[in-house]
Amino acid sequence: MSNGLRVGLAGVGTVGGGLLQLLAAHGDSIAARAGRRIDVVAVSTLEHRRNPNVDISGFRRAQDPVSLAQDPDIDVFVELMGGEGGVAKDSVEAALRAGKHVVTANKAMLAHHGASLAALAEKSGVALNFEAAVAGGIPIVKTIRESLQGNDISRVYGILNGTCNYILTRMERDGKSFGDVLKEAQAQGYAEADPTFDIGGFDTAHKLTLLTSLAFGTRTSFESVYIEGIESITPADIEAADELGYRIKLLGVALRTESGIEQRVHPTMVPKHTAIAEVEGVLNCVAVDGDFVGEVVLVGRGAGGPATASAVTSDLIDIARGNILPPFGVAAKHLRPYKKAEMRAHEGGYYIRLSVYDRTGAFAAIASRMAEQGISIESIVQRRATAELPGINRRNQGIPAAVVMITHQTTEAAVRKALAGIERDGHVDAKPQMIRIEKL
Ligand code: HSE
Repeated sequence: MSNGLRVGLAGVGTVGGGLLQLLAAHGDSIAARAGRRIDVVAVSTLEHRRNPNVDISGFRRAQDPVSLAQDPDIDVFVELMGGEGGVAKDSVEAALRAGKHVVTANKAMLAHHGASLAALAEKSGVALNFEAAVAGGIPIVKTIRESLQGNDISRVYGILNGTCNYILTRMERDGKSFGDVLKEAQAQGYAEADPTFDIGGFDTAHKLTLLTSLAFGTRTSFESVYIEGIESITPADIEAADELGYRIKLLGVALRTESGIEQRVHPTMVPKHTAIAEVEGVLNCVAVDGDFVGEVVLVGRGAGGPATASAVTSDLIDIARGNILPPFGVAAKHLRPYKKAEMRAHEGGYYIRLSVYDRTGAFAAIASRMAEQGISIESIVQRRATAELPGINRRNQGIPAAVVMITHQTTEAAVRKALAGIERDGHVDAKPQMIRIEKL
């Protein structure tokens, strides 16, 4: 088995280190499966970012990622540095132009530049593989790009961020506030010191952007994703959801509608009996609705060195076998322009929690604002006085009570107008909470 696949690895952090460990552990069996060895021949890494558990003294050190990308002695450039632009994008472009295959876990870069990088890869006749960029070890890219190609996909959705799922799971289990759980997660190393990308929904949106292109054959359009994070979720919402038979998850959803494609990331009520509701802690879950196959659900580790290295390795094995496919499943020139469905046109059920002054006429006024917008209420409950809940401001007369409503199917525009009217009427003491219910 001469003729090994020669790999240049840029970034020897958590994932890059995991890749070196995996190739060391399974090099022989991978060679047998792929028909040739996969050998890392050179690496490039920043010393302060280097995985301390991995010895790289046996590898040639490249001067920098861009020169590694063009190295005549490599066949594949593996980019595991991260970052939307900068040296990650420069080196990936250099590799593609030099006719090297590229494997990357960089969702931010692909979400912003996926269509142009795919075109560059095709021009050079090389692979641009990114299994590790979406949901870590879960093989969802390959599943959509290969296994589900016989289907028309109507929706792809999932729990794509382990940090958010961990926080929501702990809030539910322990009854703690978002802020308290986040602090604990940071102390235990589950959440980043700057968790904005995770909790604000941006990391999920990057991954969703890639799933959308794979599922619908459209150009990547990160700018079109509607994004809400989990910061506003309170223990009161989690408790109400539980009583109503739901769990709250941060979902990324891409849905084909008559007016275009919805791409949205937001806290979502999912019925407790569904597979996705059962996904707890740092796990990820991705579901695809295909017209012939029905629903396919994959669950697994969405982050971490070993799981993500598993995904990178499967991309390398494909290249070693000569299984080179268009990055997003169809030739880059055939990727259709993304047609956005406006969020205001989104249709679904809604959970609404209001902090309402317990006084005559308040309920009637709320009901009439909903009726004005043609919103039918499935259930409405006045739960309990909320004077002691955080964030409640008792500047007006009366003690506010939590009113929780579930609507029948309606539109986002109608709900927003109704809530604006309710706020103007002055019977509520805090900004209304609104959580979308996903039909599963
Ligand atoms: N920070 C991500 C998560 C993993 O918490 O799931 C990398 O995308």
